[in-house]
Amino acid sequence: MGRKIHVSTTINGEDSEFLCEARQSLLEVLRTSLSLTGAKEGCNNGNCGACTVLMNGVPVDSCLVLAGEAEGAEIETVESIAKEDHLHPLQECFLEGAAHQSGICTNGFLVSAKALLDDNPEPTEKEIRFELSGNLCRCTGYDKIVRALQAASERMKESN
Ligand code: FES
Repeated sequence: MGRKIHVSTTINGEDSEFLCEARQSLLEVLRTSLSLTGAKEGCNNGNCGACTVLMNGVPVDSCLVLAGEAEGAEIETVESIAKEDHLHPLQECFLEGAAHQSGICTNGFLVSAKALLDDNPEPTEKEIRFELSGNLCRCTGYDKIVRALQAASERMKESN
């Protein structure tokens, strides 16, 4: 085992510190050291998006980010999307529209979808498909996911 690196970061709005090895990915540290298992390990090589988290507001594949790179960054995981006992409209619409399907890809999609709606509250279908193109669904049920995102966009507009 190599020397450990000390990392200070913000995770889901809270100051966080951890020790990691230089070779460890952010995904590995989130899941094994910090017990944040929402980000999933699918391919572990940047192809599937199951491990998506937000780093300074931008969706990243956490399997491709070294944990040491989180120093000083703001990290948001899927665990931060629901507030207290209220699901985010995206989560509600994924459930209502059965867009979660097998569930493997769902958390990554939710993180990418939230980033999209935060940036562009009323995206077109083309924009949705483009922005979510880094997230793969092995069930290939993309239509339900797109519909859920559109429904969430509509719901968020009505509640504002
Ligand atoms: Fe990171 Fe697939 S596990 S992109």
